[in-house]
Amino acid sequence: MKKVTIIYWSGTGNTEMMANAISEGVKDVGNPVDVVKVEDANKDMVVNSELLAFGCPSMGAEVLEEELMEPFIESLKDIDFTGKKVALFGSYDWGDGEWMRDWEERMKGYGASVVDEGLIIHLTPDNDGVEKCKDLGDSLAKV
Ligand SMILES: Cc1cc2nc3c(=O)[nH]c(=O)nc-3n(C[C@H](O)[C@H](O)[C@H](O)COP(=O)(O)O)c2cc1C
Repeated sequence: MKKVTIIYWSGTGNTEMMANAISEGVKDVGNPVDVVKVEDANKDMVVNSELLAFGCPSMGAEVLEEELMEPFIESLKDIDFTGKKVALFGSYDWGDGEWMRDWEERMKGYGASVVDEGLIIHLTPDNDGVEKCKDLGDSLAKV
């Protein structure tokens, strides 16, 4: 069973809830999983994992959080993503998901195979939102 690595940033806990629910979905399939805050993550974790999930809410004006997540994602651009499956997720409030559409295109530009569509959830995930996160973990872990 391949390990899934989930790396995220969350200011007020909504995206963190999503990360934890995705992790539950992965565990249900039986794969091992590491859930890591971006401040504790490094590039090697991405190089060494074929199954990855990255999470970040919409911040600034429809961009990734700029102090930690944006530089981390930028640092991945020279990694060979061929053969890596990547799930993207994050919480938002008033926008229409533009940051996630841009992020998906960016990761595809890195060569990653993006699973489903980036999962966006309005503010705190409700039960339905938690189920969507679990399903994403399930899709990521299943071959
Ligand atoms: C500084 C700041 C900028 C934000 N910018 C946007 C935005 O451009 N579009 C949007 O939909 N939500 C925006 N939000 C709302 C957050 O995406 C939303 O509160 C989200 O649930 C935060 O997730 P978190 O709890 O994981 O930090 C912003 C929030 C903050 C604090």
